[in-house]
Amino acid sequence: MEPLYIFLSILTISIGLVAAIIALSMTIAAIFSTILFLFVPLSIALLLSIIILRIKFSSKRDNSVTSIGFFHPYCTAGGGGERVLWQAIKTTQEHYPDIKIFVYTGDTIPDSQIFDKVKNTFDIELNRNNCKFKRLLRRKWVEASTFPRFTLIGQSLGSMVLAYEALTLLNPTIFIDTMGYAFSYPIFSILAGSTVACYVHYPTISSDMISRVQSNSESFNNSSTISRSKILTLAKLIYYNIFAKIYWIVGSMSKLVLANGTWTGNHIANIWKKEIGKDLFVVYPPVDVESRKELPLDWMNRKNVILSISQFRPEKNQALQIQTLAHLLSKYPVHKNQLNTKLILVGSTRDQGDRDRVEQLKQLAHDLGVANHVDFQIGVSASELNNLFSEASVGIHTMTAEHFGIGVVEMMAAGVIPVAHNSAGPKEDIVKPDITGFLATTKEEYAEYIHEILAYREKYTDMQKKARESVDRFSDENFNSNYLKHMKPLIDSCVTPINKKDQ
Ligand SMILES: *[C@@H]1O[C@H](CO)[C@@H](O)[C@H](O)[C@H]1NC(C)=O
Ligand SMILES: *[C@@H]1O[C@H](CO)[C@@H](O)[C@H](O)[C@H]1NC(C)=O
Ligand SMILES: *[C@@H]1O[C@H](CO)[C@@H](O)[C@H](O)[C@H]1NC(C)=O
Repeated sequence: MEPLYIFLSILTISIGLVAAIIALSMTIAAIFSTILFLFVPLSIALLLSIIILRIKFSSKRDNSVTSIGFFHPYCTAGGGGERVLWQAIKTTQEHYPDIKIFVYTGDTIPDSQIFDKVKNTFDIELNRNNCKFKRLLRRKWVEASTFPRFTLIGQSLGSMVLAYEALTLLNPTIFIDTMGYAFSYPIFSILAGSTVACYVHYPTISSDMISRVQSNSESFNNSSTISRSKILTLAKLIYYNIFAKIYWIVGSMSKLVLANGTWTGNHIANIWKKEIGKDLFVVYPPVDVESRKELPLDWMNRKNVILSISQFRPEKNQALQIQTLAHLLSKYPVHKNQLNTKLILVGSTRDQGDRDRVEQLKQLAHDLGVANHVDFQIGVSASELNNLFSEASVGIHTMTAEHFGIGVVEMMAAGVIPVAHNSAGPKEDIVKPDITGFLATTKEEYAEYIHEILAYREKYTDMQKKARESVDRFSDENFNSNYLKHMKPLIDSCVTPINKKDQ
């Protein structure tokens, strides 16, 4: 070929390429300028409003005192989460009498009734002069029923609305969320300039939830259409992943995170990228075990009773308890002939599904030929339950991956040796195997431990004592001291500048 032709073709191709590149860059430039024209003014407007709001709310802060605002919109609910709130307030009042305490709540009953309720439910007497309530009128924004679809994002945005209302009522030095409304943190961290801390019982979204959708399994909030359709599953996965990212961003605005157990701590560490021992600590919630600890430890009054305490839900896996009993009776007939070993299942039934499950379990006991050794006690009174705790020798717990297992703690306090499932809460937080109880997985393992305890009871007095001592980790005193230990550096860092000004 003529060199001229080669030259001309190269020239043509080059010109074509350059033209294409110019066209492409003009398109990109056009896109960019659109973005610039749309987003830059928007971001500037957003930034400006943030700055204006920040200035507005800073001027509303009373800097002559240090204040703590506890965000707990349902403060009279009377559950374990509320015990944490009131205990935290009480111990703060005692150690920092100069700090002003506020609770943001959506409850409308008068202050005095709230204090009475705290006293009656938890036996906690607060300093009523230094605990004020800021009433939130927009609590419906965080109710699940307000958002039948996209509950996760709906409730989260709702909690921002509620937090904004809270901020208009009071701008505290320290903001502590005790109900897990992570989306309130940017409001108080960015707009109010408060120092944010939180006590988390349960992550709003966990890696478990994402992998459950990923494995396309039908989860508890399943609408089966979603699981069936691949596209919807993918959409849900993207939704969860985006949500998890945002959750991470808002969560990282909390300077200090206290988690109520190892399970929660690990999940929060994972999703908020926090470091356990640095800005994330496990502080067990106070568990009321005092009355159980008053029961006598001696074996004289204890019968060959295996006690099971849990609701009749599928995940509690009571079937394994009955299979364990059947295995025990057939392998060691002494439990049938002389010891007359009994399994007592205590629990409440909340709906027809629960009642059906009880019937199925009765049928299972019948089919395995152990019905004479199984007793169901549904809805027992508190005093009957206390009796059972004083009569039983062994406690059995069979749920896999239970986050905690308060029933196991109660058994240990009462002197009932626990044989608990070798996973999650019982394994990580509660039972020290072979020292304060036993951990098992299969019916054979359960049966061996139970036989061992019932056949040689006196050998286990020491274990009873150690188990009872170990539940002090879940006492009020322990909660107080751990809560203060981790909260102190944060509180002190907020208090110091004011003290300096005074001097
Ligand atoms: C933490 O809170 C969750 C949710 O209320 C609960 O299921 C779990 O048992 C709690 N953990 C402890 C250690 O109390
Ligand atoms: C999920 O939905 C299906 C169909 O409605 C139902 O049969 C199944 O029990 C549900 N699973 C759970 C764990 O609720
Ligand atoms: C699933 O339902 C439970 C109870 O209805 C709720 O507490 C939880 O937040 C829901 N989770 C999701 C991902 O919607």
